[in-house]
Amino acid sequence: MRAAIEAKRAGVDVAVVSKLHPTRSHSGAAEGGINAALGNATDDSPEIHTFDTVKGSDYLGDQDAIEIMCREAPGDIYELEHMGAIFSRFADGRLAQRPFGAAGAPRTIYSADITGHVLIHVLYEQLVKHDIKVYEEFFCTNLVIDDGRCAGVLAWDVVRGGVHAIEANHVILATGGVGRMYYGTTNAFACTGDGMSLAWRAGVPLKDMEFMQFHPTTLKSNGVLITEGCRGEGGYLRNSKGERFMAIDAPNAMELASRDVVSRAEWKEIAEGRGVDGCVLLDLTHLGHKKIETRLPGSRELALDYAGVDPIRDPIPVRPGAHYHMGGVDVDVWGESIVPGLWAAGEVACVSVHGANRLGGNSLMETITFGRRAGQAAAERVLAEGDTGARIERSVLEDERNRINTLLNATGGERPGAIREQLAKTMYDKAGVFRTQSVLEECVEEVHALRERGRSLRIEDRSSLFNSDLVQALELESMLECADCLVTGAVARQESRGAHARIDFTERDDANWMKHSLAWNDRGEVRLDYKPVTVTKYQPLVRSY
Ligand code: FUM
Repeated sequence: MRAAIEAKRAGVDVAVVSKLHPTRSHSGAAEGGINAALGNATDDSPEIHTFDTVKGSDYLGDQDAIEIMCREAPGDIYELEHMGAIFSRFADGRLAQRPFGAAGAPRTIYSADITGHVLIHVLYEQLVKHDIKVYEEFFCTNLVIDDGRCAGVLAWDVVRGGVHAIEANHVILATGGVGRMYYGTTNAFACTGDGMSLAWRAGVPLKDMEFMQFHPTTLKSNGVLITEGCRGEGGYLRNSKGERFMAIDAPNAMELASRDVVSRAEWKEIAEGRGVDGCVLLDLTHLGHKKIETRLPGSRELALDYAGVDPIRDPIPVRPGAHYHMGGVDVDVWGESIVPGLWAAGEVACVSVHGANRLGGNSLMETITFGRRAGQAAAERVLAEGDTGARIERSVLEDERNRINTLLNATGGERPGAIREQLAKTMYDKAGVFRTQSVLEECVEEVHALRERGRSLRIEDRSSLFNSDLVQALELESMLECADCLVTGAVARQESRGAHARIDFTERDDANWMKHSLAWNDRGEVRLDYKPVTVTKYQPLVRSY
């Protein structure tokens, strides 16, 4: 939405195509806040934000891109505020900022603990204000690449049925992540990697796919996120003995170490028998009911509804859950991919500002800053080039209609849901917080077997209207391709860096592995390649918190 607003403001004809109503997009589930170095709580600067992000990325983030985000973030925040975002404030009226993990200053601007929800509604209002056409509940089934450049998308109308061609001189993917390939994820059902897979099939490599972030505080029953804001407001993590175990791995930052560090510490507590029913405890009881009710009302409600625990009185059982994919479509600092006319921004993209581990609060910021930049750059290109002649041939549309029709009538072995469930379990068990060569190799084999099974599906709902069976089949293909890229990259990367923690290669190996992986589509198989990390000011250091 941020990209579309920028393009429309530049005077370009633009439409948003979304498989959900835009306010149901998963950014609405981002809770704790958005990072910009405003310095409202203590001294802060874009330079400190940059360093924290580079260190947090375990030196895999591209430093030029990180500098851009941290420099432009404050302006983007003020613009969101001017659009109407209601952020929480300090008593003196300035925007409030709370501490988040691995941040050198309280930098996270927030709206209580429903920040994403607030931002997504503000952006949607702007779509309406700018009269931007929205194709709601249209599922993009393919990109059209004509003579080497993107000419638009083919999309299934989920509500009414039917495949449509939407021609465009430029297409910006903003489809989010692929957390649903894991069991116990914070991600919505819609986070199935569709955009990554569309780009991969169109010949764009996916970068750093082996890096999946596990958020330290998710509910056991359903993976629902309990925001890092709880620890930012002073919450403790305890084991079954009541100990604040973060003192072992992060004696300075404690609960506010980076997410990879906290998730590993939790995993060890649980594996070594100091957990509580497969979880550790997030203790907010000392914060008092007033702070919980004003700063963390949503978290209290989630804990009450889904864990039956009132955090004012009792600790919340939590565990690490798949949350954010650092990898994605390989793009430059304007969001442009190697295929002319094809761009990407947000979690679907890998610019890369998060490297091997993202800092909490940096993803909403990335989405806004790089969404704006992609919208601006694509619009400038449209205005400079004029009509590129992007057209979708009738035969291309007919071929896609036939493909979707065949799928709609598929009578093969299994329903998509069964394979989807097996994939999520395999990924959780075999490509999780800690990884090893032999288990990852098993995982690759299992993902390949699942891809094979996914070629012979059975669709039981033959209707064209709201056919979730069909949508699940399309999503399954995307998730299986993304999973293949992830595990293939993970087997190859024989080091530990950020969220990729290898039990058999415990150290970071800058000499051999300080490089981005690129997963290419080689006739349906994953082929790996690598490219250097951009370093501007910060040479890699030992990372401790
Ligand atoms: O914990 C959270 O509120 C999540 C924020 C984020 O992932 O950036």
